[in-house]
Amino acid sequence: MTVLALETSCDETAVAILRGRNHGSSPELLASEVASQVAAHEKYGGIVPEIASRNHLIYAPQLLERATRNAKIDMSLIDAFAATGGPGLASSLMIGASIAKGLAIGFGKPYLAINHLEGHLLSPFFGGADGDTKIRPNVSLIVSGGHTMLIRVHALNDYQLIGQTVDDAAGEAFDKVAKLLGLGYPGGPEIEKRARDGDLRRFDLPRSMLDSENFSFSGLKTAVRYLLPKLNGNFLADVCASFQQAIMDVLVRKSIAAAQKYGVNLVTVSGGVSCNQELRRQLREACAREGFEFKNAEPWLCTDNAAMIAFAALLRLQAGSQSNVTDEIDPNLRVA
Ligand code: KG4
Ligand code: ZN
Repeated sequence: MTVLALETSCDETAVAILRGRNHGSSPELLASEVASQVAAHEKYGGIVPEIASRNHLIYAPQLLERATRNAKIDMSLIDAFAATGGPGLASSLMIGASIAKGLAIGFGKPYLAINHLEGHLLSPFFGGADGDTKIRPNVSLIVSGGHTMLIRVHALNDYQLIGQTVDDAAGEAFDKVAKLLGLGYPGGPEIEKRARDGDLRRFDLPRSMLDSENFSFSGLKTAVRYLLPKLNGNFLADVCASFQQAIMDVLVRKSIAAAQKYGVNLVTVSGGVSCNQELRRQLREACAREGFEFKNAEPWLCTDNAAMIAFAALLRLQAGSQSNVTDEIDPNLRVA
């Protein structure tokens, strides 16, 4: 069974082709193409929805052509067409969903609308070294530019929200603090790079809402904003390290607390911020200390891509589910 998926929920256009093998073993990724629009939005200081959707319309056909060429497969041999159905920008979601629906109708194949967050939360089970794609119960930390949530995963399509951010997402905090520091976008990799040479204990920054299952990062960002005018000399690496550690402490502590509370012995992490090596290292160490297993999405699967959407679509298809071409996209789609 071969699935083609499009991801156009925000400002990344992506197409992937994934071939399923027997239940439980890793599917074969035949193509995964991503076109970034960072440069197109940079000068506006944020994502402009109309520019994003206009670019999706330009890039998607090019990526479809490249993906089928790289996968050496004819479109007529694809068994199902999938797209992100939400959450995201309405005008961006519509482009990917319309293309996938058109292909499904044209070739007479099933259409699947996939929740972007489900794509992220299943991604730690995709193509890991152990080749084990069976979705086992876990506490899933999703940390991206748009979301910070802890979800209790019982099984495929059986998710329960534990907690989420009440203001900024973790990635958003990285991006905003990087901007305050005059660093480039996206801010996460810029801060991680500088934090390596910094003293993470030099500045005592707030860890908010530690007793709640929800998250809050806007106070941390504000604390950095008020700190900066007081500093002289060499402080960049130390601010980066202290800020990054404040985020890590909260993410690690809440993930472990959730696993303990709900009696789950597997913790997973996904989303753009989980590219951060320090986060993965500290989560892995904390899990080992508590006797929990830990799985992270492979770095190339952490930021937005269509392979994770194709993977979720394949698992859903194998479980016998599909969507209707009349289903609407939903910018506020919830996963739990
Ligand atoms: O998952 P993603 O590509 O997009 C959303 O769905 O939001 O995540 C992008 C976010 C950005 O905020 C970016 O700064 C952050 O992930 N990010 C990182 C790192 N790499 C990307 N944050 C911390 N450390 C990193 N190495
Ligand atoms: Zn995402």
